[in-house]
Amino acid sequence: MVWKKIAEKSEISAGKGKGCKIGGKQIAISSQEGYHGLDDDCVHQEGSISSGKIDGDIVECPLHFWHYNFKTGELKDYIKDVKLQTYPVEIKEDGIYVDF
Ligand code: FES
Repeated sequence: MVWKKIAEKSEISAGKGKGCKIGGKQIAISSQEGYHGLDDDCVHQEGSISSGKIDGDIVECPLHFWHYNFKTGELKDYIKDVKLQTYPVEIKEDGIYVDF
């Protein structure tokens, strides 16, 4: 695992998300009660989770409205036992970092 800077502190406002490409992976970073990272590709048809609406711990895929817990990666509807990969996120002095 390697910590990589993915954004400046001011780039992701509370209740919003941002997609980042790191090492060939597309990762969604959300800012809600801290920062959280998870795979940005919805398991349905690869919609970008990072641009979805956030409500509490849930992010809604903007394409067909499937829901994921962005802290655990768990899909909350339609298919049981589906989880997106999650990634630790840390705020450091010079920005936001993700461990992938
Ligand atoms: S691509 Fe995400 S719900 Fe369809």
